[in-house]
Amino acid sequence: MRSLFHKTIALFLLGFTVVSCQDKDDPNYQYMPDMYEPVSYETYGEYKVFENGQEAKLPVEGTVARGWMPYEYQNNVQDAAEAKANLTNPLPYTEDNLNEGKQLYTIYCAVCHGDKGAGKGILVEREKILGVPSYDDAGRAITEGSVYHVMYYGLNNMGSYASQTSIEERWQITHYVMSLKDQLEGNPEREFEEETSAKTNLYPSKADADLYQDAGEEDSTMENENGQETANNQTETQE
Ligand code: HEC
Repeated sequence: MRSLFHKTIALFLLGFTVVSCQDKDDPNYQYMPDMYEPVSYETYGEYKVFENGQEAKLPVEGTVARGWMPYEYQNNVQDAAEAKANLTNPLPYTEDNLNEGKQLYTIYCAVCHGDKGAGKGILVEREKILGVPSYDDAGRAITEGSVYHVMYYGLNNMGSYASQTSIEERWQITHYVMSLKDQLEGNPEREFEEETSAKTNLYPSKADADLYQDAGEEDSTMENENGQETANNQTETQE
């Protein structure tokens, strides 16, 4: 009788041990697992074979993400001066581009710079931010290139707009900012340019633009019967 009692307890403990070891998060015992487990590395999995111990790797240096183009001017005083002097707006000055620019300006910039670009936005009026210049500030003498540059990197109290806006949008805003500057200075309104059928080359750097033009001359700009230029797949993927 006693030994039966002991046996029962032993059996119970054994059963408990076996059952208690099962991890609910793991699959149960697999009989002939074959293809249950993937052979390939799991995304973000940890594996010793990789240098950093995990499957996820940083892109190779110099990688350019799709739909994005590098901006060659660096965030320093010298490059800012170069951009200011040499970088020009690749977008034609059309009504559409200006209107787009106005909308974006109103969303992103007017809180500080004001609707007229005189540096009297709502945040300035409420004294939440100081030192917002007017676009006709003679000491700054902003240019298309400097406006683009400052939007790309920001400047002191002004943040960067590189992540919120695309290349095209930044150039549209630049058109609008320059038109505000003209208004503030009392210059005559700039005349609109014709919309061109060729897609605009949005490479922001001089070096890239040259490279691009070379390629374009060889194979992607064609004249059709009307003498109208049609550029094919040149700039499809850029933003
Ligand atoms: C949070 C407020 C704020 C917002 C929003 C803002 N700015 Fe500014 N911006 C400033 C301040 C402050 C300065 C002066 C920076 C300095 O010189 O220290 C400035 C300077 C500038 C300058 C002059 C730069 C130069 O060359 O001296 C330009 C051009 C400019 N902003 C354009 C823009 C545009 C375009 C936008 C919208 C995409 C924008 N800003 C949004 C606060 C702002």
